[in-house]
Amino acid sequence: MKTSSESDPQSTATHDAGSPANAPSPGGRIKTLVILGASGDLTGRLLLPGVARLIASGRAPGLRLVGAGNDAWPAQQWQDRLTESFADALAPGGASTEAGIAELKTVQKDSTYHQLDVTAKGALGAFLKDVEGPVALYFALPPAVSQKACEILAKKDLPAGTRLVMEKPFGSSTESAQELNATLARLVPEDHIHRVDHFLGKSTVLNIMGLRFANRLLEHSWNGDHIEKVEIVFDEPLTLENRARYYDHAGAGRDMIQSHLLQIMAIMAMEPPATLDEHDVRSSIAAVLRASSVGRDGDLAQHTRRARYTAGAIAERAVPNYLDEEGVDPANGTETLAEVEVFVNNWRWAGVPFILRSGKALGRARKEAVVTFKPVPHLPIGFKGTDSPTRLHIGFGPETLTLDLDVNGPGDLFTLDRVQLNAKLSSDPLLPYGEVLDGVLSADPLLSVRGDTAEECWRIVEPTFAAWKANEVPMEEYAAGSMGPETWATSND
Ligand code: BG6
Repeated sequence: MKTSSESDPQSTATHDAGSPANAPSPGGRIKTLVILGASGDLTGRLLLPGVARLIASGRAPGLRLVGAGNDAWPAQQWQDRLTESFADALAPGGASTEAGIAELKTVQKDSTYHQLDVTAKGALGAFLKDVEGPVALYFALPPAVSQKACEILAKKDLPAGTRLVMEKPFGSSTESAQELNATLARLVPEDHIHRVDHFLGKSTVLNIMGLRFANRLLEHSWNGDHIEKVEIVFDEPLTLENRARYYDHAGAGRDMIQSHLLQIMAIMAMEPPATLDEHDVRSSIAAVLRASSVGRDGDLAQHTRRARYTAGAIAERAVPNYLDEEGVDPANGTETLAEVEVFVNNWRWAGVPFILRSGKALGRARKEAVVTFKPVPHLPIGFKGTDSPTRLHIGFGPETLTLDLDVNGPGDLFTLDRVQLNAKLSSDPLLPYGEVLDGVLSADPLLSVRGDTAEECWRIVEPTFAAWKANEVPMEEYAAGSMGPETWATSND
């Protein structure tokens, strides 16, 4: 694997004078991507297809790929996994280039798999001695295993310029996230740690920034003087899909709201950054989250809701009651639909609810942010019909933009009517994982979650989870395939 002591392209570091592993590396490219948990489901389903798209698009020249996992996989089994996960990117079309496809084939041919117990003292360190650096060490592992692996790693075990890539969930509470942050900080500097939230790799994030910060018209009214509420909705028809081992402990709140939806909320609410540099953008995100809390008065029963699906049907598919799904323990009290009302307690947003909602087994996929503007201060007397609020919808896939406006009605120009202006926003042909990995490999943490932000996200939702656990908020029900409990109206209803 190794070409030994090549010079470290990242050695022109200017801060943190620790071991070479601690050398910050603006612009330094990763040579080897090591996936820990390579035989796991996440690697095959999401990570490798993202890697493949990235390489096939020509954006990861000269990368090597090494897999390591607990299972004793023969070389052929790893190759089979790569063949399956790379298939889409190898097909002509999309963002793949001829040179990129050739590169991907070489990466596959040279890629190796190693059986490795990362929790065995010294094992990961010894393994890394044979890997050509700089290395991106991707922990596609359950958080407790990643924590243990990092605890027993020593700084000196890491090749110069190593980047640590951590999958969600990042800890399971403020305290455990702090612990994990402290463990990682012993190994590499903060800007070498990539906490993955693949929603940051969706085109949505950059689209929201472009829309907000390149249009004077919008940013001018983007505050509590003009906006009544912001909804961020991620409703999925997907059900448990055999993920009870994880999901029955996470539920919709931890799975989606604690991570993905709070990140999107922060992008919707952030102050305009001076540049798209990671320092500026991530500091703006952090400032929003630091100012945020669920509810305003501590009454979480007023500001949060939870529900669980019962038997039903989605399209033609019969879906069992969640509690009858394999591996589910009713004692866990897991919600499959969650909604929280977050307030960003600063000058711009005081009093404006950000309603974050996500659930499984819903009748229709609905993935969008909806900004509802306040009514006009005075509608000229004489207009007939309803003065409906101006609404802006930003779709998260497909990437769309819709503006609902009132105009003069057809037939009678004194009547108000409704029109929708629609636009398709651009999307990146790289998958979200490809986009996030692009940042990892090119040493840019812009689309990775910063340590303080990971802790803030837990701080915001922890009181809600405690109130739910204490049954202070009732567990409602909805039939699989419905749009949620009937009483849960949203802007689209
Ligand atoms: C994952 C959640 O992080 O995001 C899943 O664990 C969810 O439950 C998924 O379905 C949604 O992301 P995407 O990219 O599939 O829309």
